[in-house]
Amino acid sequence: MFDSYLPFDENHECVFQVDPRPIKFGPGAAAELGSDARTLGMRRAAVFTDARTRDLPATERALASLTDSGVDYAVFDETRVEPTDKSFLAAAAFMNRQGFDGIVSIGGGSVIDTAKAANLFCCHPADFLHYVNPPIGAGRPVPGPLLPHIACPTTAGTGSESTAVAVFDLSEQHLKTGISSKRLKPDLGLIDPEFTYDLPPLVTASTGFDVLTHAIESYTAVPYSRRERCADPAARPPYQGANPHSDAGSMEAIRLGGRYLLRAVNEPGDTEARIAVMYAATLAGISFGNAGVHIPHAMSYSVAGKIRDYFPEGWPDDHSMCPHGLSVIVNAPAAFRLTGPSGPGRHLAVAEALGADVSGAGEEEAGELLAGRLIEMMRACGVPNGLAGLNYDESDAADLAEGAFKQQRLLKLSPVAVDVTTLESLYRDAMRYW
Ligand SMILES: NC(=O)c1ccc[n+]([C@@H]2O[C@H](COP(=O)([O-])OP(=O)(O)OC[C@H]3O[C@@H](n4cnc5c(N)ncnc54)[C@H](O)[C@@H]3O)[C@@H](O)[C@H]2O)c1
Ligand SMILES: [Fe+2]
Repeated sequence: MFDSYLPFDENHECVFQVDPRPIKFGPGAAAELGSDARTLGMRRAAVFTDARTRDLPATERALASLTDSGVDYAVFDETRVEPTDKSFLAAAAFMNRQGFDGIVSIGGGSVIDTAKAANLFCCHPADFLHYVNPPIGAGRPVPGPLLPHIACPTTAGTGSESTAVAVFDLSEQHLKTGISSKRLKPDLGLIDPEFTYDLPPLVTASTGFDVLTHAIESYTAVPYSRRERCADPAARPPYQGANPHSDAGSMEAIRLGGRYLLRAVNEPGDTEARIAVMYAATLAGISFGNAGVHIPHAMSYSVAGKIRDYFPEGWPDDHSMCPHGLSVIVNAPAAFRLTGPSGPGRHLAVAEALGADVSGAGEEEAGELLAGRLIEMMRACGVPNGLAGLNYDESDAADLAEGAFKQQRLLKLSPVAVDVTTLESLYRDAMRYW
């Protein structure tokens, strides 16, 4: 397992760090929310949902368990799907008014990230850009602890219940970026696959491809032992590059995604597939939380931020938007064609774990085989045919590349160096796949 990382040398990192938070997983876990809230000392909780997740049957069970355990609560259900700086601040304003001693989030990444940000700005008020990742914001550290937070994901997707980041769209610049701090990690991820049983097919596909790309990007990221040694151990970044811990979780998530994602999308009542994909999301979240993601995610931020005219089925239709998972997967085949030669063994292992036939394949085919298998899965799940399917055209490539180049925090984790020109040609390659 360490053979991918040896030899160690004095200029590069020899140490990796994992900061796990507790998770609880299984159908029916939502009914344990009240007991867990009491264990974390909650008497009055701010419950974050969105207009859809508020009414899920499993949400009703979770809220009833709060009442049964004597935890008072108030619900904020105005979370914006694909949140913005403004919607983060509106959620923080809700918290400020009401004397809460804990937070529960019940929703996809949009809701969990909104709860993280509301918690931060309520406990440690500051100008909005103060904590935002550089170069867009000042990237200042969070000065102290936040209120306890239990995150209940309702999509098998982001893994936000165990990550240290809250992602949002900076409205004025049409750019997605985030706030990163280990203090944002929820204190408990309460993961009940029953939340996902009614997810519409395109939401299942989009969030499922988010899971797969988290796992594949973590597995193919630059190895931690090829990154510069960290001078201050207290400042080791959460995203460290591929490492033996993330490899194990990522590979299992890829294997589960390859086996079950198509079933979860095309046979929504298949509970075995729903549970398996939820577990893949959990494993991928933990893995990319300490390894990081690279080119497809870096490219996704401008794809989502600059979207003009796209109204996907299953999301609110009051604004044009590109769901996160779709904004990532449309770039993935092009990106893995580029990275294939940097680690053919790993790319072939991923293609095989996803179900591709790699027998007799040469190293030079690794990137193409992985891209080909992803394209096959995209078609079978009904996702858009590349950027053109999201109503972009060739004339957008330069502008998209400029936006993506700002995501240096992620591009640093790419196994191959990428500049603006490379990004532009990747966007051209990602325009259409079939
Ligand atoms: N913090 C992180 O580590 C991290 C990682 C990746 C992505 N993100 C961010 O998370 C957001 C995307 O989150 P997401 O993909 O989980 O989706 P989402 O939270 O945006 O939800 C997508 C849609 O599905 C609906 N929905 C959610 N759960 C449902 C259910 N169980 N049944 C029916 N409908 C349901 C929502 O109301 C919404 O309309 C983006 O803003 C993305 O940038 C965060
Ligand atoms: Fe993601």
